[in-house]
Amino acid sequence: MSVLFSVLTLGCLLLVNQVASEDKAVSYSGYQVWTITTSSEEENQIVLNLRQVYGLDVWQWQESTNAATDVLVPPNISSELKFKLNEANISYVVKIADLQSAINDENPNASSSSLGTKAAHNMDWTSYHRLDDIYGYLNYLAVTYPNLVELINVGTSYENRSLYLVRISNATAPDTQPAVWIDGGFHAREWISPALATYIIQQIVEEPANAKLLNNIDWYIMPVVNPDGYEYSHVRRRLWRKTRSMTTSARCIGVDPNRNFDFKWGGAGSSSNPCSEVFKGSKAFSEVETVAYSQYIMSKSKQIKLYLTLHSCGQKLLIPWGYDREYPSNFNDMMELGQCAASKFKLYKYGVGNKVDLLYRAAGNAADWAKSIGIEYVYTVELPTTSFIVPAYNILPITRDFFPAIDVFATKIATLTV
Ligand SMILES: *[C@@H]1O[C@H](CO)[C@@H](O)[C@H](O)[C@H]1NC(C)=O
Ligand SMILES: *[C@@H]1O[C@H](CO)[C@@H](O)[C@H](O)[C@H]1NC(C)=O
Ligand SMILES: *[C@@H]1O[C@H](CO)[C@@H](O)[C@H](O)[C@H]1NC(C)=O
Ligand SMILES: *[C@@H]1O[C@H](CO)[C@@H](O)[C@H](O)[C@H]1NC(C)=O
Ligand SMILES: *[C@@H]1O[C@H](CO)[C@@H](O)[C@H](O)[C@H]1NC(C)=O
Ligand SMILES: [Zn+2]
Repeated sequence: MSVLFSVLTLGCLLLVNQVASEDKAVSYSGYQVWTITTSSEEENQIVLNLRQVYGLDVWQWQESTNAATDVLVPPNISSELKFKLNEANISYVVKIADLQSAINDENPNASSSSLGTKAAHNMDWTSYHRLDDIYGYLNYLAVTYPNLVELINVGTSYENRSLYLVRISNATAPDTQPAVWIDGGFHAREWISPALATYIIQQIVEEPANAKLLNNIDWYIMPVVNPDGYEYSHVRRRLWRKTRSMTTSARCIGVDPNRNFDFKWGGAGSSSNPCSEVFKGSKAFSEVETVAYSQYIMSKSKQIKLYLTLHSCGQKLLIPWGYDREYPSNFNDMMELGQCAASKFKLYKYGVGNKVDLLYRAAGNAADWAKSIGIEYVYTVELPTTSFIVPAYNILPITRDFFPAIDVFATKIATLTV
């Protein structure tokens, strides 16, 4: 089934990761993704129990209804799980019959576009790109449009990769205009997110029809917040989510950067188990990546009026708070602007609402932190994909469909003053 016609509206998550040490790429041959549908509280409990007994990786789940659950099913438990579900009369469908085949088909044209050309950069939006291509493109833009684009290095990752963002502005004096912050690549495996962030950069900088977006707005766009994880998901383990830092566990490494922020850190929806995919870290801001990110945003907190953080999947625009079912004082304002932006989407219908209402609790997330330091409009975007594996031919439909929302956000932000 094409992602284009998806109507699934849940969020993607994964709860427990597997043993982490290996040298070559992990194969998911024989792994399947099943969508389990329950119809009673009793059935919910049975599925919850099965998730725990088998340590199932959960791909999609909604806390409030527990309506449907996508789980990754390793080959060795497949027949047992099938038996248990049948026994309980719980229905399921096989959504991905062989995960490794889906992964093999996802990005077949990587690098092909740049082969044999003398292009100044390797970036395009018909395949997913490694970090070097993305950073190469940012650098190309800074060199090619020096009056418009500034490449900013905000720090160094755990594995010593640079943490780059771009500032796009045609203002003659710095910090005089309201600003928009956009980031991607918090979660390594959500490849569609850096693809959209770089697409937005490309459209603002290189598409003359979008010049109006430079009118009284500065843009700060950081396409890959977690570069170590992103690279790891390309070369070793396609489903890697977290950072790559050491933990107290020799077996399990990495922290969920989106549970590591210093606002309600350690609350519901985060874990103190280093093997969990939502491991909060040893303390708030334990990760060099979240420190560099937050310090930079703090330094621009007076200018930044709108904050977008891009994730997959779920087709949703989520509004704080996410630590609990609570609503910031300007929730209705954020809701109104979010609905206006979402009304521009033609291919995909996005849900707009509070994060806990539409998804689940996630204490210590970056968007809550951004709201807590006073940014007026804060959204987490869950892009319209049905799994983490999104064939590259869907990048352009998804990014093109999204871009008109940027126009709506910009129109609003341009009217504000610093
Ligand atoms: C399935 O295999 C994994 C390792 O790949 C192992 O940890 C787990 O115990 C196995 N489960 C069953 C039910 O055999
Ligand atoms: C199983 O579920 C179906 C509908 O989902 C229902 O019609 C049927 O009666 C159930 N059977 C048992 C044994 O519970
Ligand atoms: C990163 O660089 C520092 C200083 O050069 C070095 O001590 C450290 O071992 C490096 N870390 C990794 C993971 O390569
Ligand atoms: C900045 O962009 C706006 C909108 O396109 C334009 O009106 C203005 O002239 C530009 N300023 C500079 C210095 O290029
Ligand atoms: C790879 O390129 C071919 C030929 O251009 C195209 O038909 C196919 O859809 C591409 N595959 C993906 C996954 O983008
Ligand atoms: Zn995510």
